[in-house]
Amino acid sequence: MDATIKLLKELTEAHGVPGYEAPIRAVLRKHLESLGTLSEDKLGNLICEKQGSAEAPRVMLAGHMDEIGFMVKHITKEGFLKFLPLGDWFDQILLGQWVVIKTRKGDVVGVIGAKPPHMLSPEDRKKVVQKKDMYIDIGATSKEQVDEIGVRVGDPVIPRADFVPLASGDTFMSKAFDDRVGTALIVSVLDKLQEQDHPNTIVGVATVQEEVGLRGAKTSAWTANPDVAIILESDIAGDVPGIKPEESSVKLGGGPSVLIYDVRMIPNLKLRDFVIDTAEELEIPVQLSYAEGVPLMVA
Ligand code: CO
Repeated sequence: MDATIKLLKELTEAHGVPGYEAPIRAVLRKHLESLGTLSEDKLGNLICEKQGSAEAPRVMLAGHMDEIGFMVKHITKEGFLKFLPLGDWFDQILLGQWVVIKTRKGDVVGVIGAKPPHMLSPEDRKKVVQKKDMYIDIGATSKEQVDEIGVRVGDPVIPRADFVPLASGDTFMSKAFDDRVGTALIVSVLDKLQEQDHPNTIVGVATVQEEVGLRGAKTSAWTANPDVAIILESDIAGDVPGIKPEESSVKLGGGPSVLIYDVRMIPNLKLRDFVIDTAEELEIPVQLSYAEGVPLMVA
């Protein structure tokens, strides 16, 4: 398997929901420790600093290592787990998802369920089932059994999904591409810079708790103290059924996209133009993109 694909497989399959990033942080630590000076701040951000021939400018490359998931919030007397979301989830894709609960006694597998459609009225069958009406079934039949298995309220829950190369040969399916792709880029850039001189200091930061409000990005900016920050994030592809060109023209495989606007950020215009001009000079295709929508979490 190609080294980049292997890295993406390892990073996307690692567990790490907001506040519980230890497993993915350990994987990233392993990849980054030979590439620069590593440190970790108190919130859990992993910082890898590599000085080139000049101390400044300090260029921060940030990508979030956390992924969306859930937390156990209640255990019913019949042995089902009620959960709360960590990050944005579209209720329509939850039913039938396999999940892993990280317990003090080890990983426990479960599946998200709800009242069966057979028991619903024709009108209710057309409605989206809400998260609050769903549960995780781990096969237990009582609260006592759940306690025995080791699941506790507050335990993190991660979607269970394998990395699968798809038939096209150059597309892949996995969980957490948002934003393990960003962390893979940090590893790959720092790796390439090992054999190259660069007149600046690169500070790669794998941030925590992005999915619950960019928390790690805020604290790590104080530690990294950058002059320039480049955020490596996944974008939304517009080349799927139902999206009009004016909503998004970003195409999968069409080159990196530069975000010109989102509801929480407008980039520095000089930096934006510098990036676009440099890409043009080097004949790298760049797609301009924007995110007009309100994040699901805020909506
Ligand atoms: Co993201």
